[in-house]
Amino acid sequence: MKLVFWHRFFLLFVLVSTSQGMSSDGLALLALSKTLILPSFIRTNWSGSDATPCTWNGVGCNGRNRVISLDLSSSEVSGFIGPEIGRLKYMQVLILSANNISGLIPLELGNCSMLEQLDLSQNLLSGNIPASMGSLKKLSSLSLYYNSFNGTIPEELFKNQFLEQVYLHGNQLSGSIPPSRLVK
Ligand SMILES: *[C@@H]1O[C@H](CO)[C@@H](O)[C@H](O)[C@H]1NC(C)=O
Ligand SMILES: *[C@@H]1O[C@H](CO)[C@@H](O)[C@H](O)[C@H]1NC(C)=O
Ligand SMILES: *[C@@H]1O[C@H](CO)[C@@H](O)[C@H](O)[C@H]1NC(C)=O
Ligand SMILES: *[C@@H]1O[C@H](CO)[C@@H](O)[C@H](O)[C@H]1NC(C)=O
Repeated sequence: MKLVFWHRFFLLFVLVSTSQGMSSDGLALLALSKTLILPSFIRTNWSGSDATPCTWNGVGCNGRNRVISLDLSSSEVSGFIGPEIGRLKYMQVLILSANNISGLIPLELGNCSMLEQLDLSQNLLSGNIPASMGSLKKLSSLSLYYNSFNGTIPEELFKNQFLEQVYLHGNQLSGSIPPSRLVK
């Protein structure tokens, strides 16, 4: 009896201490992977016992071990993108194209203020393009084509001076891209 108790206590201790060892970006990715369903050939490598997520499949980091890219294109990913995405504050590149991801774009994506390239094309995403994406001041390339987005294209997107490429076709969107943004 006593042995079992201590064994459990030890396990609990190990679990707590490993999760404290993991970087905040790693914890955000693990939280994200609870709703974003990764196939086993990717997930196999996303281990909560690593100190950083920098060697995980699809993850790229800067010299300070902060996550700057997540590229899981054409990887049989399904499920949906949770609000935890907004905790990846240093992310510059997010590519989840050509998967089976459904649901909405979380408002919290607007918190990824370093984002330069966003590609969610060729998925099953729906709902509006959130106006909070106007907060992505460094965004230069936005690909949302071939999804099921509807509603109006938010004007806020085009207040952003670096935005160069916008691909929104293959959705049920209304509104327009300002003419000044069509000619480069
Ligand atoms: C995960 O897989 C990639 C590519 O297969 C490899 O480069 C990397 O070292 C692996 N990471 C870990 C923690 O095993
Ligand atoms: C999406 O899911 C369907 C049904 O499970 C599957 O046939 C298809 O290959 C998947 N597509 C991608 C891009 O993963
Ligand atoms: C993150 O985004 C949400 C929804 O847009 C917003 O309410 C919240 O204030 C943001 N948090 C931070 C820390 O920027
Ligand atoms: C967008 O589609 C959803 C269902 O997917 C619907 O409830 C909503 O009313 C639609 N919005 C617009 C503006 O068409």
